[in-house]
Amino acid sequence: DPDFDWSKVVVMTAADIPGANVVSIIIEDMPALAEGEITHHAQAVALLAAPDKATLREARKHIRPRTEPLPPVFDPEESDHQFAAYEISKGDPESAFEEATLIVQGEYRVGHQEQLYIENQAMIAEPREDGGITITGSMQCPYYVHSALKRALDLTDEQAVITQAETGGGFGGKEDYPSVVAIHAALLAQRVGKPVRMIYDRHEDIASTTKRHPAIVRYRSGVSASGRLIAQDIEVVMDGGAYCTLSPVVLSRGVLHAGGPYECPNVHIRGRSMATNTPPNGAFRGFGAPQVGFAHEIQLSRIADELGVSPAELRRRWIYREGGTTPSGQVLRESVAAEEVLREATEAADYEGVLEVSRQTRAVRWGQAQEAGAGFNSTRVRTASGIGIAMGWHGAGFTGSGEQKMGSTAGVELGADGAIRLLIANTEIGQGTNTVMPMIVADVLGVEPDEVELAPIDTSIVPNSGPTVASRTVMVVGGMVSKAAARLRALVEERSGGDFADVYKADAAANGATRIDQDFESEVEVEFDDETYTGDAYPAFGWACAVAKVDVDLDTGEVRVRSVVSADDAGRVIHPLLAEGQIEGGTLQSVGYGTIEEIKVQDGRYLNDRLATYLIPTSLDAPDITAILVEAPFSGSPHGAKGIGELPMNVAAPAVVDAIHDAVGIWITELPATSERILAALESDR
Ligand code: MOS
Repeated sequence: DPDFDWSKVVVMTAADIPGANVVSIIIEDMPALAEGEITHHAQAVALLAAPDKATLREARKHIRPRTEPLPPVFDPEESDHQFAAYEISKGDPESAFEEATLIVQGEYRVGHQEQLYIENQAMIAEPREDGGITITGSMQCPYYVHSALKRALDLTDEQAVITQAETGGGFGGKEDYPSVVAIHAALLAQRVGKPVRMIYDRHEDIASTTKRHPAIVRYRSGVSASGRLIAQDIEVVMDGGAYCTLSPVVLSRGVLHAGGPYECPNVHIRGRSMATNTPPNGAFRGFGAPQVGFAHEIQLSRIADELGVSPAELRRRWIYREGGTTPSGQVLRESVAAEEVLREATEAADYEGVLEVSRQTRAVRWGQAQEAGAGFNSTRVRTASGIGIAMGWHGAGFTGSGEQKMGSTAGVELGADGAIRLLIANTEIGQGTNTVMPMIVADVLGVEPDEVELAPIDTSIVPNSGPTVASRTVMVVGGMVSKAAARLRALVEERSGGDFADVYKADAAANGATRIDQDFESEVEVEFDDETYTGDAYPAFGWACAVAKVDVDLDTGEVRVRSVVSADDAGRVIHPLLAEGQIEGGTLQSVGYGTIEEIKVQDGRYLNDRLATYLIPTSLDAPDITAILVEAPFSGSPHGAKGIGELPMNVAAPAVVDAIHDAVGIWITELPATSERILAALESDR
């Protein structure tokens, strides 16, 4: 619009990008600004900067992109563009299915889930004297932003400086998307030569940022005459959205976890992630495992139903024990706590006792209904109670040889001023990194945790110790800083003669600064073949079991989750309160995933892209959560810890759906189990 006063406004398009027009992550398919083709409704086509918000809003009204419609794809199974595909084979499933005396098939669907961190995406970009940009903002992975910024603005390592501001939550949502915001703010800052602030409001954030991948998961399970699980054929289809982002790694984790924590000699799993015309989907706590976790658990409970054994008893028979072999052929040599978490959770919730009562109640109700010649609940009881169980496993750290390939480094420094500083790029996002990491180092050095400081999260100061993702921080980065601290202690004690705690201040005064950088080295032999998808998919697995108790309102279909007991194996607990906090938070997020968190999509657009319409559990909806910490130490990390961040997210949702079945006798096979879906299932069950 030429009539508008453009003198105070800066407008940039793809043509103005100095480097490559990409948001660099796994593959470089996502442009920083659309060029030629717009693939989803929230895609950025131009950047605007103005001195104040009012001018900016006005200017936006005077820009109209000229577009012509192209045919969209919204169903991943109709898409012809594949981001990734993996296949895992073990044994001979087809012959095993011929031997099976029971074959159960199932199709399960899960929708999008929004991370809904308290703080929206936000970045400040400031031009530097060396021609580069300093970014300060909300993020999980400063070095991801660093690489992406260098590529799009054509900067050197030194010209791109990324610092993390206090970050109000991440849950995976600040793993890849912050690179988009940082590039946009930096492009504008470089153009105007002044600091530029880009802060999403909640509506912009929900409308455009990555969500958990929706998925369709299909199972065919074969059980032998002796009641063993002998064959599984599994298909996983994920909806990647418009660009690849982290789809390959989310899918890979989904495929590797799809068999569930159960021994089965003959397994075939294939998965693919497909492009559709919604904003890209990406990382969210659990990273593919919660999607398949819902599917394998409801499948298992349905099999238990067919066999006439209790869902907990079937799990007790089929779970992995030490020496078990996963579908990728990984032998579980140590640290297998499936049996222990199952026992802890079922005992704490009095599972079998409560199950017996709720089954009798349901039988009585059916009997009365049949006598009256009417459908279920013709007695007009208004609520039904049920108890449900689910188990899960979570590979700790990166998949396969990811950690070896990435090659991260962490440091511990004894400064000339006598201060002990930890040099890592791993961020505090509410989970407790800044508490736990100094504890780990202090323990090795024999000092108090408050004697250990953390260097600022700034890429010009700290080495790349890898991203804050995949429940890897305590296990992997904690391992590196432990080793660095042990080396520092040995060096100081050797040259200053005495216990580190007593001599380190004098040592620093005499010798100046000493910095030890420790590269990642695997403690255990991990062999994984990326071509055949065989071998050690993860250094170790964490194990979890949740028992949920629910009330289902028979008039409205509404579910009230009364309590969840979640027993989770963290290997070794460093800080019990924070570990319990991870279980409580993950459980509540999983309850939301299972019951009310739903993105309604129309023509590739999220309809409920507001806090008023995207519902998550509030404190009033929160069940009574009991977190039980189980410790099956892993020899491959110096302190035995395996990570706890994602594990609890895999189990509460299927436990709630299993409890709904116990209460009212219907299987909900599509998440979330909203009142609408429950009422519809009750109707068709009549
Ligand atoms: Mo994550 S979902 O590994 O931040």
